[in-house]
Amino acid sequence: MEVIKVKDYNELSEIAANIMIDAVTKKPNITLGLATGGTPVGLYENLVKDYQNNGTSYKEVTTFNLDEYIGLEKTHDQSYSFFMHDNLFDHIDITEENVHVPCGTSADHIQEAKNYEQLIDENPIDFQLIGIGVNGHIGFNEPGTHINSVTSVVQLTDSTIEANARYFEGNEQLVPTKAISMGIGTIRNAKQILLIITGLSKAKIVKQLIEDPASEDVPASLLKDHPNFTIIIDEEAASLLDK
Ligand code: GLP
Repeated sequence: MEVIKVKDYNELSEIAANIMIDAVTKKPNITLGLATGGTPVGLYENLVKDYQNNGTSYKEVTTFNLDEYIGLEKTHDQSYSFFMHDNLFDHIDITEENVHVPCGTSADHIQEAKNYEQLIDENPIDFQLIGIGVNGHIGFNEPGTHINSVTSVVQLTDSTIEANARYFEGNEQLVPTKAISMGIGTIRNAKQILLIITGLSKAKIVKQLIEDPASEDVPASLLKDHPNFTIIIDEEAASLLDK
């Protein structure tokens, strides 16, 4: 596990984008695992800027998103499919057929999750980007999730619903209670994993993640023994660390 400490959100977004651009340049047909939430927005802005200025191409890139809320149509402005198109896919030359986000409105969610896992099995992820929830969740793998879990239908905890209400007019009632999420085992199968963490609200979980032994109580800590795992944290997120 490598920890890179940076000054602030802008620096984090630039460094993380450069790592991703480098990976895409080295392997133009790379399979990327992508994340949503507020944290990667700046990173995606930098990818778009780089595409416009330097022409890094995504034509041969395949992507798999970590998760999707159950019950939200792709056109819903808080669906992760909408988020990805709005923040990244609509602004680069990626091929729509190569883009994968679990479907939150299929007739059979359990089957949808199985199919998604199968598709990832057939297209192993080279580079997985992730963020972290205030309770340590990755994707929507909440505390207590097994290290070998695969893509499945998951229940959001009250703390995650409360944290994500800010994206739903501040109204917890509007936040879906279930999602389809890659499992921790799915994420661990990626060849390289990059976790980006920003802001004071994450300082407590960062301390647990970095200073305590790996445990199911902090899902992100189950990545600590991955052979190619990097964490980028800004000063605010690192503010409670002993050193
Ligand atoms: C959601 C997503 C996670 C994300 C987390 C943190 O719950 N499922 O993938 O990491 O939010 O989001 P933010 O970056 O907005 O703090």
